[in-house]
Amino acid sequence: MRGQTPGPGTLLSNIVLSQVEEHAAFGGVVPEIAARAHVEALDTIVEHAIAEAKVNPEELDAVAATAGPGLIGGVMVGLTTAKALALAWNKPFVAVNHLEAHALTARLTHGAAFPYLLLLISGGHCQLLAVQGAGRFELYGTTIDDAVGEAFDKVAKLLGLPYPGGPNLERLAREGDPKRFALPRPMVGRGDADFSFSGLKTAIRQVVRSPGFIPEQRADLAAAFQAAVIASLTDRAAVAMRRFREATPGSTTRRLIIAGGVAANASIRAALDALAAREGFETVFPPPALCTDNAAMVAWAGLERAASGVFDPLSFSPKPRWPLAARTAQVLESSP
Ligand code: KG4
Ligand code: ZN
Repeated sequence: MRGQTPGPGTLLSNIVLSQVEEHAAFGGVVPEIAARAHVEALDTIVEHAIAEAKVNPEELDAVAATAGPGLIGGVMVGLTTAKALALAWNKPFVAVNHLEAHALTARLTHGAAFPYLLLLISGGHCQLLAVQGAGRFELYGTTIDDAVGEAFDKVAKLLGLPYPGGPNLERLAREGDPKRFALPRPMVGRGDADFSFSGLKTAIRQVVRSPGFIPEQRADLAAAFQAAVIASLTDRAAVAMRRFREATPGSTTRRLIIAGGVAANASIRAALDALAAREGFETVFPPPALCTDNAAMVAWAGLERAASGVFDPLSFSPKPRWPLAARTAQVLESSP
């Protein structure tokens, strides 16, 4: 990664090792397999990345790696390798919060100026945040149970779709009628900007297990699930937009950045675009390849930290849990 804040940055190399095949047989991510795959692949990936970027390690300003949150095995392997490289190359080290990397991707791709509103929708996270600067976040809302991508994956499994569930479910939903099944609209109408998806998953399970359900109805159920998710996401995002608008009274251009793997969903994108247009926000969708987990976004977050002179000691420990921001006290009253 090469660049300067606020971006955009220049991608020199961005190698992503997909472990989809290793995990597919188990219908989800298996922590031990993930950690072992990291160990086996990382040295070669670093070598290839350096070669592809055509940089000499001496030219680097810093080495950055994810230090959490996430499955601890994989995080430890990456973090330890990065620390070893920083030591060997005698470069400063930056420990990156994986969520912060997602949060700052819109600067890497679009040079988005602070502040902006971020909707982070991935397999592990579902949050609305005001991003004021690197390391400066205000949490507007988060999920009280499952993340939205997790809900997609679990519902896909209930429908008998192969892993990874999200994209397969989206494909199936395209052939279905969303009105055939009436599903709950989780959290809609609430004054906070929180999310909840486990009730929706339970509702789907009940439908699938009901005596009259036939496999031909799977597409309709997938479409109904996606419609319910969209209703919930847009309602929650609308609450956050109002709050962000109040927090930025003088601003002429307000942006909603949508990041995380679920942002690849075309129907969700279209619904958020329409909502943003109504609410006077511009949407920014970093391209899917940079929205799903990748090395470039971690490098960019490291660059932002390094630019403000923030480095970390080599003793920095991996953090399985590492929230970006604590919840603030403010909760808006429900609109009438
Ligand atoms: O950001 P990401 O790659 O990884 C993290 O969770 O950090 O997000 C992966 C999640 C998975 O749950 C996957 O099912 C979901 O994003 N996803 C989708 C789509 N593509 C990926 N969900 C719905 N529709 C999609 N097209
Ligand atoms: Zn992620």
